[in-house]
Amino acid sequence: MGETIACANQKGGVGKTTTVVNVGAYLALAGDRVLVIDLDPQGNATSGLGVDRLTLERSVYEAVMDLTPLDTLVRSSPVPGLDLIPAAIALAGAEVELAAVDQRERRLGRLIGPLADRYDYVLIDTPPSLGLLTINALVAATGVIVPVQCEYLSLRGLVQLENTLAMIRENLNPHVGIQGILPTMFDRRLLHSREAVEILKENFGDLVLNTRIRKTVRYAEAPVKGQSIMKYDPSGEAADMYRDLAKEVLDGAKAAFSAGGKESGDGAVDARDLLVEVRQRTRQLGGEQAGERALAGPILAEDALDNA
Ligand SMILES: Nc1ncnc2c1ncn2[C@@H]1O[C@H](COP(=O)(O)OP(=O)(O)OP(=O)(O)O)[C@@H](O)[C@H]1O
Ligand SMILES: [Mg+2]
Repeated sequence: MGETIACANQKGGVGKTTTVVNVGAYLALAGDRVLVIDLDPQGNATSGLGVDRLTLERSVYEAVMDLTPLDTLVRSSPVPGLDLIPAAIALAGAEVELAAVDQRERRLGRLIGPLADRYDYVLIDTPPSLGLLTINALVAATGVIVPVQCEYLSLRGLVQLENTLAMIRENLNPHVGIQGILPTMFDRRLLHSREAVEILKENFGDLVLNTRIRKTVRYAEAPVKGQSIMKYDPSGEAADMYRDLAKEVLDGAKAAFSAGGKESGDGAVDARDLLVEVRQRTRQLGGEQAGERALAGPILAEDALDNA
């Protein structure tokens, strides 16, 4: 039975889709059977894999809303060995429509079961929210990869994601945990970037992957051509970084899963420490003014923390 890995972070633009497309392409080119499910109404994984969203008749919308079996929605992609269940614009309505249906958090998970033997990896791309589409992905997943932009303020959202995962473990999927936190948009010349990774490591330990995805414009260029980085620039360092990540995820998969039970109990505490530390560092970094500005925003993570 294959792994089902969701790529999630409710913060937008942190590299979720880039990660799904490029890890998926690498694994498929290395000989694994890979299915990418695009659960984001923006459809960036669909277009990034070279599939025209506007010509789609059916998409993952039919699965989550009508419980259409996934094998009837699967299509091939230009990457050999990589299949896709695309997102179409209709999916934008699903977030609201799902609220009114039965088993609204479990619909994708129920449908993935029958497909699991056909693929070595099912990778799910999620939208930048913790709404019902993302929750469906987390309930269906065996592990979660969390791309995190290397900035202090990006770290704060991890608190809320961790709380959501704790809720899902308690009520919907006892086995799901963070398989790896992936530092993205890393710029080693910046102290800020290096410190953000240090804070992550202090709070999440081995869950922080060793691979750093550095900033490079190649990642933005490839999807414009509807290509993965493995095709667009296979010998460049941008492709190397995702190759490293894919290998690390494969190697680390078993270890992370065996540690899953422990992590589930401690997650909320880690998250609380993280928030305190991010507060302190933000103050140190920019003095009182930057600290106060950072704390004045509508920080959902703090609401979640207060309710924890
Ligand atoms: N390491 C990187 N360096 C530079 N640009 C990057 C990097 N990773 C991704 N990008 C670019 O940044 C933008 C956001 O990346 P991506 O779409 O993968 O993020 P996302 O988390 O899926 O966003 P969303 O939350 O909107 O779905 C894209 O234009 C992408 O090409
Ligand atoms: Mg995306």
